[in-house]
Amino acid sequence: MEVKTIMVIGAGQMGNGIAQVAAQAGYTTFMNDISEDLVDRGMTAIAGSLDRMVKKEKITADDKTAILGRITPAVTLDPASECDLVIEAVVEKMSIKADIFSALDRLAPGHAILASNTSSLPITGIAAHTGRPEKVIGMHFMNPVPVMKLVEVINGLATTPEVTATVRAVAEAMGKIPVECRDVPGFVSNRVLMVMINEALWELYEGVATAEGIDQIMKLGMNHPMGPLALADLIGLDTVLAILGVLQDGYGDPKYRPSPLLKSYVAAGWLGRKTGRGIYEYK
Ligand code: 3HC
Repeated sequence: MEVKTIMVIGAGQMGNGIAQVAAQAGYTTFMNDISEDLVDRGMTAIAGSLDRMVKKEKITADDKTAILGRITPAVTLDPASECDLVIEAVVEKMSIKADIFSALDRLAPGHAILASNTSSLPITGIAAHTGRPEKVIGMHFMNPVPVMKLVEVINGLATTPEVTATVRAVAEAMGKIPVECRDVPGFVSNRVLMVMINEALWELYEGVATAEGIDQIMKLGMNHPMGPLALADLIGLDTVLAILGVLQDGYGDPKYRPSPLLKSYVAAGWLGRKTGRGIYEYK
């Protein structure tokens, strides 16, 4: 199936990154959020990211203008009626995703694929809120979206091979490398990553080393581009806690229990880079 028009639901750090790479790949792109302010902020973030690319001479100023021109901001879901593919990237709450998917199912044309960028919620469960579970799939981008090569493609129980092939082709057109996995809690990526991040948070809680020390050990010793605590701040501590909850519920294994420190940071609203304070402070 040929995809020409894509709508991204959610203009936050993942949503605006996905809208950016969609527009860079030449797709007609809509980027939706619930208010003008949120969509404007998403557009500003995209402009900033494209500015970095212009400065590094990866694209020209004219390319930037053309890419931005392919993105239409939207505060309703109505443009879904013109789309071949919708990619949802809203908060990790099943009730909110359920409402969005049932609305998209009503609005989008019959051929349209409905994808979720969920970091860990079950694709099969999301698909059950639509009348087209065979066209629902996980398209899990990594943060920062414009830079990271992976798209984890998650096949729900009913997802057809044609839908998977289409989504793989779109990911490749966006300059990404799609890798498939089954619909299990945390998929492949976050089942591994969150255990590492949580272990680092337990170490910090127990005073095994400072935050800087833990991160340096993992960077210098394992050649990771950033330490697990800095990465947790990049992802968002609320998201880390939510994913650990999904892993704990999904497998019933105590190895996924979150560090108490993580819970108190989230309760304090210290969510990482996006709030200016998490494990580290950001000016
Ligand atoms: N837009 C465009 N380009 C960007 C960018 C953005 N938002 N952010 C960074 N870049 C570019 C820079 O311009 C630079 O380009 P260059 O190589 O041509 O010079 C390159 O990316 C590297 O950036 P910086 O030099 O500013 O910084 P670093 O070298 O420290 O790299 C990083 C930053 C890419 C974030 C790197 O630290 C990294 O790879 N960190 C790990 C990220 C990671 O693990 N992400 C996955 C998180 S898990 C996830 O998302 C799943 C979810 O479900 C939780």
